[in-house]
Amino acid sequence: MLRSVVLGCGAYLPEKILTNDDISKFVDTTHDWVVERSGIHQRHIAAEGELTSDLALAASKHALERAGLDAQDIDLIVLATATPDNTFPATATAVQAQLGIHHGAAFDIQAVCSGFVYALSTADNFLKCGQHKRALVIGAETFSRILDWEDRTTCVLFGDGAGAVVLEAQEGGGTLEDRGVLSAHLRSDGRHYEKLYVDGGPSRGQEVGHLRMSGREVFKHAVINIAQIMEEALEATGVEPNDIDWFVPHQANKRILDGTARRFGMTEDKVVITLDKHGNTSAASIPLALDVAFSDGRLKQNDLILLEAMGGGFTWGSVLVRW
Ligand code: UT7
Repeated sequence: MLRSVVLGCGAYLPEKILTNDDISKFVDTTHDWVVERSGIHQRHIAAEGELTSDLALAASKHALERAGLDAQDIDLIVLATATPDNTFPATATAVQAQLGIHHGAAFDIQAVCSGFVYALSTADNFLKCGQHKRALVIGAETFSRILDWEDRTTCVLFGDGAGAVVLEAQEGGGTLEDRGVLSAHLRSDGRHYEKLYVDGGPSRGQEVGHLRMSGREVFKHAVINIAQIMEEALEATGVEPNDIDWFVPHQANKRILDGTARRFGMTEDKVVITLDKHGNTSAASIPLALDVAFSDGRLKQNDLILLEAMGGGFTWGSVLVRW
């Protein structure tokens, strides 16, 4: 059977860093509150005029270089974002054009913080069925543009950034020993639409709007949904938590990550954590974390990695990958 094998990963973070202390100068918050409640110390913020597609392009070039491929080898681009350059066309097509690719297909996926697991699963299905050969899967966000910088309950949590992976369809033996995406489980429940949303949009208000979140409610559902979707991945594949080399979760809250790891008996040294430095970068958080763990030598070929995410909608999902 065909497997979607990761050939390379890359990332890009905007130069500007905003610390908790910086934010405490314009909203009523403290570094200690933000660290204690979320685990976040700082986040990167895109420069004026720096677009989601710019971040995505830089991450993509990095991933292509690591994969040892030319942009022309790519025939599918799936970009996860909730902060596109424009309402349309898809930001993926801007990246495609800037990479000089004039063939294949490029489109965006909108599943907010679950965007990367949705995009990875989508690309995996396109590759597994033989419709495309090599995919660039990107998570890229400029959440700083949709934050209400006067709302201390949300503006301290998010940051900007992008990460990307290059996938190639390769023949596998159909076992868990194969490299590549081994399972993907996606879920959503639109009854929770208004617990984490943006209060604008082309159809509703003709304005972009700002992010609104019932933090405590989201937290409660995140703990339950993440555990459920991880259990689903383990049950479907027969993998035991002990078999997992690296747990790479969406980075929303350190307390959620610690609680989830504890519940599955995973020690802290197996969890890739970046939210102290990146904040919550929505769809970009998982590929950014993959890049950090690959760059510092933790992620090695054949390692078994469990990804999970939960976000607005609600949407949530898990993907098991052998690197
Ligand atoms: O990525 C998508 C998924 N997103 C998530 O998973 C996020 C889930 N939610 C969370 O991570 C947490 O709920 C937060 C970090 C957003 C908030 O932590 P919390 O422990 O749930 O705090 P809270 O909302 O219950 O607020 C506690 C108190 C409140 O004051 P009172 O009502 O107890 O007097 C808030 O007004 O903290 C206050 N507060 C703040 N104080 C200082 C809220 N934001 C701040 C702030 N600085 N920035």
